[in-house]
Amino acid sequence: MPVIRVEDIAHVRFAAPDLAAMRAFLEDFGLSCFEQDGRLYGRGTDGRPFVHVTEPGEARFLAVGLRAESVADLERLATSEGVPVEDLAEPGGGRIVRLTDPDGYRVEVVAGQACEAPTVPFADPPRNTAAERPRQRASVRLEPAPAHVRRIGHAVLKVRDFRRSEAWYKERFGFLTSDEVEAAKDVPLGAFMRCDRGNKPADHHTLFLAQLPGELGLLHAAFEVANLDDLMLGHQHLKARDREAAWGVGRHIMGSQVFDYWKDPFGNELEHWTDGDLFTAADPPQKMPMSALLAVQWGSPHPMMAGKLAPPPGLIAFVTAMQLRLKRLFRRQPKGTPA
Ligand SMILES: [Fe+2]
Repeated sequence: MPVIRVEDIAHVRFAAPDLAAMRAFLEDFGLSCFEQDGRLYGRGTDGRPFVHVTEPGEARFLAVGLRAESVADLERLATSEGVPVEDLAEPGGGRIVRLTDPDGYRVEVVAGQACEAPTVPFADPPRNTAAERPRQRASVRLEPAPAHVRRIGHAVLKVRDFRRSEAWYKERFGFLTSDEVEAAKDVPLGAFMRCDRGNKPADHHTLFLAQLPGELGLLHAAFEVANLDDLMLGHQHLKARDREAAWGVGRHIMGSQVFDYWKDPFGNELEHWTDGDLFTAADPPQKMPMSALLAVQWGSPHPMMAGKLAPPPGLIAFVTAMQLRLKRLFRRQPKGTPA
């Protein structure tokens, strides 16, 4: 039984030496930006006070924010952890519990933030398909513009020990596994985990913990845009502004989202996505091979798969060591002996 069940991701927090450069990128990316108390905030159209924070300082990832259902839940979490519930002195106010995970990542659990009504700045007319033609006597006319980010959807963290981190996040926040990714049979690399919202459908993943070689850090944070047209217009806009593309456009296997990844001026990777899978608490976890992680159902292959980006030496060493270990394991077992 987890201490609480978080309802969603709340924000990601970075430090950067040039807030104006970060702001220019985030506006191209489709966030509405404002500054308060020396910090830069980005918000979507879902009415939440902020989804992206940048503090002045040396460029780095600072924290991931999760949203508790209520202040009462925050109090339960704080008691269990032996830490205080503090006032959140940021736009929207509210309360916060600050924790540190097993890898030293700061986890900011928030509740009670004041929100505004969501806005719908991008038309979402029905789509005609071969089978259904709901759009009649009306044309599609789109204007070039940045994408319209509605909300933050997930974060991907590199961890040293997947099982240790998985237990830490599940015990405290009630995450459920959607897909566990395996390097080989019964050798887990990580998992896509979603919020437990009972019968209410939740995003396929809110947090992905990945045990990969190399330095720890945030692999990316992802933001939901209005729809496929919005994502493609956003792609065109970022390209026209000479922003650094990282991967996309394509459709993922795990989570099924249409995705598009970009780098901010400080090397952090941010994703636009739309049309992802939703599951309830009743849906069982799946196991998936590592090959499904970087493969696509359609669209741009991952730059590493396309040979445009060399795999990091640590990853080559890791995969080679894994293959050797597996070969030895199978060699040791005489025929007919159960594994
Ligand atoms: Fe993602």
